[in-house]
Amino acid sequence: MTTTITITGAGGQIGYALLFRIAAGDLLGPEEKVRLRLLEIPQGLKSAEGAALELQDGAFGLLEDVEVTDAADTAFAGCDLALLVGARPRGPGMERGDLLAANAGIFGPQGVAIAENAAPGVRVTVVGNPANTNALIAAASAEGVPAERFTALTRLDENRARAQLALALGAPVSDVRRVPIWGNHSATQFPDVSHATVAGRPASEALAERFDDVTGWLESSFIPRVAKRGAEIIEVRGSSSVASAANATIDHVRDWVHGTDDWTSAGVVSHGEYGVPDGLICSFPVRSIDGQWQIVDGLEPDAWAQARIDASVAELVEEREAVRALGLV
Ligand code: NAD
Ligand code: LMR
Repeated sequence: MTTTITITGAGGQIGYALLFRIAAGDLLGPEEKVRLRLLEIPQGLKSAEGAALELQDGAFGLLEDVEVTDAADTAFAGCDLALLVGARPRGPGMERGDLLAANAGIFGPQGVAIAENAAPGVRVTVVGNPANTNALIAAASAEGVPAERFTALTRLDENRARAQLALALGAPVSDVRRVPIWGNHSATQFPDVSHATVAGRPASEALAERFDDVTGWLESSFIPRVAKRGAEIIEVRGSSSVASAANATIDHVRDWVHGTDDWTSAGVVSHGEYGVPDGLICSFPVRSIDGQWQIVDGLEPDAWAQARIDASVAELVEEREAVRALGLV
């Protein structure tokens, strides 16, 4: 069996980092053949065509076919997995809100093209920022496709949070589990360590041994470091994160398709869980079971955590209002 994967913005930086890992089997495993459809705008076609030539030169045994196009209908024809990466990235000094209007126009038409052309079980992962609201716009435009098939990438934030917690505790990152991200993929996000474990032990115990004032450390160091890591990367590299974003995209899609044995994070549609308004694409602690994301239930955020979740959700509501005013959802 062959999986058809559409990557938008395939001529861009994240696209370039994604394509070769997908062709090498990192996304779906060493048995699953893949067919790649690369969507670009006319200015980006040459770059995507160059990547397609290099994919040929990789002689990847799993890669059946590569097609480069600037026509969304062609790109999404029979698509099983859609990775919506193409968007305008944030530059130094820009906030995500600045990008709303610029990117909103991209994701509506792509939602329509997905509804009209993709395979019935299509799964969509939005990477392009502002990812949550772009996913909302695409879902709203994709008549007949359940909103549950549209997700926003917050796995990069979770990976960052696990890495920072590991660093603070001097533990291997592979020992750190359950650090979910709540809310928006933005500086308001809430990386939540309250359920985290390190080598099976509650992280709260290890943190209390390491810091006199754990809440102070979370507020002044850990949370801003994770939530503003995107801006830090832009500042240091001069452009936004690429390989780590591609890596997180692979993690997200692989887990969605193959399932998880523990919690992770994804921006998924809310049905009112944890007081998050219906219909928002919000990051929650999730599990992937039988090919579907399921929000972890029964958690009881304390007042401190709930205030942070509420603040990020309020930003998502504002973004939804802004795109509503543009007639997009
Ligand atoms: P890039 O500028 O290198 O590439 C973007 C590509 O998209 C360009 O080649 C451009 O031609 C193409 N494009 C623009 N509009 C398009 C359209 N309508 N259809 C198809 N292609 C189109 O940017 P990048 O570094 O690859 O980043 C891509 C996006 O991912 C940005 O929005 C960035 O902010 C976002 N991002 C998200 C995360 C996350 O965790 N969610 C992390 C890093 C970056
Ligand atoms: C990131 O988190 O690295 C990206 O979303 C880029 C950005 O604008 O922060």
